[in-house]
Amino acid sequence: MFKIAVLASGSGSNLQVIIDRLHAGAPDVEVAVVVSNVPGALALERAERADIPTAIFPLDDYAGREARDRAMADALEAGGVELVVLAGYMQLLTPQFLERFPHRVINLHPALLPSFPGEHGIEDAVRFGAKVTGVTVHFVDAGVDTGPVIRQEALPVHDDDTVASLAARIHALEHHTLPRVIELFAQGKVTPPAPDSRLVRVDDTQISDIVW
Ligand code: GRF
Repeated sequence: MFKIAVLASGSGSNLQVIIDRLHAGAPDVEVAVVVSNVPGALALERAERADIPTAIFPLDDYAGREARDRAMADALEAGGVELVVLAGYMQLLTPQFLERFPHRVINLHPALLPSFPGEHGIEDAVRFGAKVTGVTVHFVDAGVDTGPVIRQEALPVHDDDTVASLAARIHALEHHTLPRVIELFAQGKVTPPAPDSRLVRVDDTQISDIVW
């Protein structure tokens, strides 16, 4: 069983897809714990509804980020977590946390990095007048949305798109892309970059025939 932790601060729609499609639907992936920094986050409710253990690490309860992340890493390690999935986790992880899970922390971003990093990837793409955007799943490093790309999928931005209409298509694409990447990790089909490289090798022959 490939054990993952999902870290989420908000609504957790991606968590829900992971629960439905992988935790409940795939024989080899288990969501061992759902972690949030926000007490009362909808993501925690979704986990509880699926009988998945939850843990909350609000920054205010600790001396600082390092202490908080140390406690969080201890809990994940004790639970045998093999992959840490950030799905709308709105906090930076400390380098000390990342060192404990080398190439085992991934993030979902609603744009084609390195375009439109940060918290407003969808809005920024619309404001910029981009014609193509998409979603990125990448390894997390010490920067903001700067780690090596694992998978990217693109979609067109229509001239009459609003932030809301584009967001709806981006989220649908995220719900397709993130579970697939987790599945590929579970199957050992993701090879992290060599020391002097950023190239992640992904052994996936499945071609998406969905038109976004
Ligand atoms: C997603 O758009 C993801 O790309 C971003 O945060 C959002 C989380 O959405 N990092 P949800 O909480 O899974 O609905």
